[in-house]
Amino acid sequence: MKNTKRNKTTILPILMIFMIINLPRRTCSVSVVQFIFGDSLSDVGNNNYLTRSLARASLPWYGIDFGNGMPNGRFTNGRTIADIVGDYMGLPRPPAFLDPSLNDDMILENGVNYASGGGGILNETSSLFIELFQGTQEMIRMKIGPESADKFFSQARYVVCMGSNDYINNYLLPVYADSWTYTGDSFTNYVISTLDSQLRLLYALGARKVAFFGLGPMGCIPLQRLMSSDGNCRESTNKLSKGFNKAALQLLNNLTNILPNSSFVFGDAYDYFQDIIDQPGKTWFVSVTQTVLVAPLER
Ligand SMILES: *[C@@H]1O[C@H](CO)[C@@H](O)[C@H](O)[C@H]1NC(C)=O
Ligand SMILES: *[C@@H]1O[C@H](CO)[C@@H](O)[C@H](O)[C@H]1NC(C)=O
Ligand SMILES: *[C@@H]1O[C@H](CO)[C@@H](O)[C@H](O)[C@H]1NC(C)=O
Repeated sequence: MKNTKRNKTTILPILMIFMIINLPRRTCSVSVVQFIFGDSLSDVGNNNYLTRSLARASLPWYGIDFGNGMPNGRFTNGRTIADIVGDYMGLPRPPAFLDPSLNDDMILENGVNYASGGGGILNETSSLFIELFQGTQEMIRMKIGPESADKFFSQARYVVCMGSNDYINNYLLPVYADSWTYTGDSFTNYVISTLDSQLRLLYALGARKVAFFGLGPMGCIPLQRLMSSDGNCRESTNKLSKGFNKAALQLLNNLTNILPNSSFVFGDAYDYFQDIIDQPGKTWFVSVTQTVLVAPLER
């Protein structure tokens, strides 16, 4: 097992040199890439470049099943949700926006991942995502001209994967005004209407194919279990996830109907995660109640 992993990593640089030599001359055709907006679940290293961020994925265990097994900026042992979806579609993995080596050629070949630990739907963070994306668009227009740029941005895939921070690190924390200003339902309406305006803004900027990933059973994360009297999942929090997912599905269907040539797809992660929590033995998780999901080291 160890040996095959090592072989893979030595082959990679050779492959990359080969690909650079064989790069086709760019004509009018543009490649299909992904732009990813999200939180820690799809971060591929932006948090590592934010030296003042509290949420850092530079600790052991992160990355143990990825590349050379060292922490790589992902808040996971292996691939993120966005990695898995993109790999499935055969699209290149976009580099982190804050990667110092990011340039216009890399963006044209691979897209960009803006996701960062702590990101959310409410305007404080999502407006920043939109601003960064607008900067990227400016750069690409200068490079390939407005017409090719329009084509590039309309063919691209957009993955939006956030929402849990808006609840877990805002609404559900009594230190913030949102927790006593809103009820569960009115907070969800507020988040959904913000998501509505942000997705329309993304469409106005040229995005046509958008996938949005909803919330998992947030009440089962260790922090929420601590707040329940018996250490079990906190049902009131899981109800918030379900209510949000239901409204988000409706919103995405509405947007697809209203906005010409658009496709807004909802990715439901709830049942998938619930299965893992209910039957950890069926998957390879051995504990779902500790501060990390523990997977056996030898597989
Ligand atoms: C959030 O941003 C959107 C789009 O820019 C705007 O329409 C909306 O009013 C903002 N909401 C708040 C609460 O600031
Ligand atoms: C979706 O559209 C329906 C029908 O117009 C409307 O009743 C509903 O409130 C909309 N939901 C969202 C979340 O936009
Ligand atoms: C929708 O697609 C058609 C055909 O590609 C195109 O002519 C039209 O301008 C598009 N409309 C919008 C709003 O993107």
